[in-house]
Amino acid sequence: MRNEWIDVIDRDVVCADGLAGVYVEGHDIALFAVGNEIFATDNRCTHGEARLSDGFLLDDEIECPLHQGRFSVRSGMAMCAPVTGCIRTYPVKIEVGRVFLQFEAETSDASLQSGI
Ligand code: FES
Repeated sequence: MRNEWIDVIDRDVVCADGLAGVYVEGHDIALFAVGNEIFATDNRCTHGEARLSDGFLLDDEIECPLHQGRFSVRSGMAMCAPVTGCIRTYPVKIEVGRVFLQFEAETSDASLQSGI
């Protein structure tokens, strides 16, 4: 099991638009800036073929660009129809302005990170 932290993106890039999508280590990842925190989730909607990083961040929920289903970016929970399946979240830490993720250690609360 790999528990190493992977450097994925500059924090300022995520904060500029409030969200970003990256491909890293074979994962399609969405990153969200909420207040002083960064959250990371799978980038694929569980309802269809949409990238959540193309959606709309509403507080701490991401709205899918295709059918407006919403997920909590903190927990990955599906929040409203038509989505029912949750999305995976990932541990995040910030160091020297960079965002690091762990891919093997799944968490239900992606807020394991330092402040922005
Ligand atoms: Fe995301 Fe339908 S593809 S809500």
